[in-house]
Amino acid sequence: MMKLTPADLTALKQQHQKITMITAYDAPSARLADAAGIDAILVGDSAAMTIFGHEQTTSITMEEMLMLARAARRGTSRALLVADMPFGSVQVSDADTVANAIRFVKDAGVDAVKIEGAGPMVRRIGAVIDAGIPVVGHIGLTPQSASQLGGYKAQGKTAAAAERLLDDAGTLERAGCVAIVLEAMPAPVAAAITRSLRIPTIGIGAGAECDGQVLVWHDVLGLTGGHVPKFVKQYAELGTEIVKAIERYVADVQSGRFPEARHTYAMPDEERELFARRDPSRK
Ligand code: KIV
Repeated sequence: MMKLTPADLTALKQQHQKITMITAYDAPSARLADAAGIDAILVGDSAAMTIFGHEQTTSITMEEMLMLARAARRGTSRALLVADMPFGSVQVSDADTVANAIRFVKDAGVDAVKIEGAGPMVRRIGAVIDAGIPVVGHIGLTPQSASQLGGYKAQGKTAAAAERLLDDAGTLERAGCVAIVLEAMPAPVAAAITRSLRIPTIGIGAGAECDGQVLVWHDVLGLTGGHVPKFVKQYAELGTEIVKAIERYVADVQSGRFPEARHTYAMPDEERELFARRDPSRK
């Protein structure tokens, strides 16, 4: 199976074929996504919420992200594997950012890192690209700076704000990003950005005209159990299925229906005799 590269994503854009991306945070999930033919797997810092139960993405650490990325790497064969650089790993200096990005490549084997923001982040992103590491940009609603953006709100809703997003996207392309995630913005703004770029855009809450779409694993599969953003389409109700399955397991154990003989290991008759001879209660 041919491993996808950033150039393959650009080729999909040129051929007007949509790019598919989903988050995954462990080996079995990455393997399932890969088996389903997904083009790119994102080890997103959304894991702060989906895996670690935090309220916001800023809580996740480099070490936690690296552990999840290593696991996802083991399950990924074909898809391009991208990891989010978490809050704190890109804020200190160019050198620190490059060192952290190198850890994602060397320790976790990812194909690219994703870095949120434009403006002051462009220089940081350029430093990582200069170190030979492909970078996916991320503009619009950037959850790591949600408090600065006034909360988890759609961005680019005025003509001036839309223009700024268009400028940011162009700056990120010129800095050398291989793709840009467009999160939570009006569809016409994302469409204009998509048309203006040679590199692909991957939308989440940004309409149908992006070159691709990304969604969070737990949202797609119905595993969140809580609020799901307006832009999510849920394709399964696995949370409900999991609760039903575990309820059946609990009932089987409590009633003695599990385990059955076929779930246990046999012992040769003569050994069993010997074992019981020492204590008849063992019969
Ligand atoms: O962390 C994440 O899951 C993301 C996606 C929402 C794009 O950044």
